[in-house]
Amino acid sequence: MRLSLSFIAAATLCYTVLAQQSTQKLVSPASISGSLTGLKYTNVGATGTYNQVTNLIPGTFPTCDVNPFCITQPKQISGNLAPFNEEMTFNFRGPLNLFNIAVYQPSGTNATSWTQTSSWVAGQAPNNLVFMNNFGGDKSGEFSICGGNSQSFANGAWTDATTAANAEIANGFLDESHEINIMTAQTCADSPCDGFARGTANHGWADSKMLVVTFNMPPSSDPSKVPAIWSLNAQVVRSAEYGCNCRGEGSPGGCGELDILETLVGADPNQGTSEIYSVKGATGSGTNNFFARPTTDKVTYAAIFDVQTDSIAIQHLTTWDYSQTSVTRDVIDGYLNAPALEVSFAKGARRRDVVGGHRRL
Ligand SMILES: *[C@@H]1O[C@H](CO)[C@@H](O)[C@H](O)[C@H]1NC(C)=O
Repeated sequence: MRLSLSFIAAATLCYTVLAQQSTQKLVSPASISGSLTGLKYTNVGATGTYNQVTNLIPGTFPTCDVNPFCITQPKQISGNLAPFNEEMTFNFRGPLNLFNIAVYQPSGTNATSWTQTSSWVAGQAPNNLVFMNNFGGDKSGEFSICGGNSQSFANGAWTDATTAANAEIANGFLDESHEINIMTAQTCADSPCDGFARGTANHGWADSKMLVVTFNMPPSSDPSKVPAIWSLNAQVVRSAEYGCNCRGEGSPGGCGELDILETLVGADPNQGTSEIYSVKGATGSGTNNFFARPTTDKVTYAAIFDVQTDSIAIQHLTTWDYSQTSVTRDVIDGYLNAPALEVSFAKGARRRDVVGGHRRL
């Protein structure tokens, strides 16, 4: 039997579309303005310096009179994704229900597949992933008068510290008064970490990485307590997330922060914006473009930091099979090339007009 060319073409097209949907799990139809399903930052890599923390001098009780106590020196960076090619941590603020987390990484910039390097399912012990928070002191980590709390191992309820990494199983609910972040299971004692580290300090995820996370963000009871998922240079939390760190924002610029989906205090509580900060300055999704805050539905997002293309993509996925231990480069390319609001983070990028305050203190 002889098939007509047009039938073959139609069949091929149909197959391509189906194959893409079944392997890539992208939300369709995509929305690239208003309520976004995809956002892509291009020209991410910076050439410049940030103030790397090299020491934190605790001072003596009760005067705390060491000056300066936060010792820094300029660190030169350049190349694709810099400084987001450095080790990053992923941070979460409630109200948030977390159901699954996975991180995938290539073995080299141009590898043909990305392997699952960390994973967690709510109610189970994580794999190469440690839940941390900033309650260093009695149970884990350390506290000093001038430096404040270091990181600590988070307890299962994510409300306090515990004595060892993942000593308690987490069920995934993060209340609106707390924050956590994740690191790999590799400690700075196992192998040295870049920059200053104290207390319970672990490595983050370096070079290219994809975070996949399934969650929802229930309504806040207090409108000043709003949820967020963001990523910081791991050095920030290893020093002091809200104190002596290399974060910086805008001028003179910092060591890298990506707000993946953050509800801003005073802005629409049903929306979440994205912003990116580095030594270049800042830019983001702006006031008119946002991700919908998933107050009831469980949603899945992927945040891909890709060295090869010097870009970072955030995509809303329909679902994710967390049992898959690797993802082909084709799938990564599919996400990077999928419809998205494209925001260039070229040199000189200015922060877009964003309502509300950004700094979390
Ligand atoms: C990756 O491939 C690009 C070309 O696509 C090339 O310029 C680059 O050097 C490669 N990087 C590595 C680490 O092999």
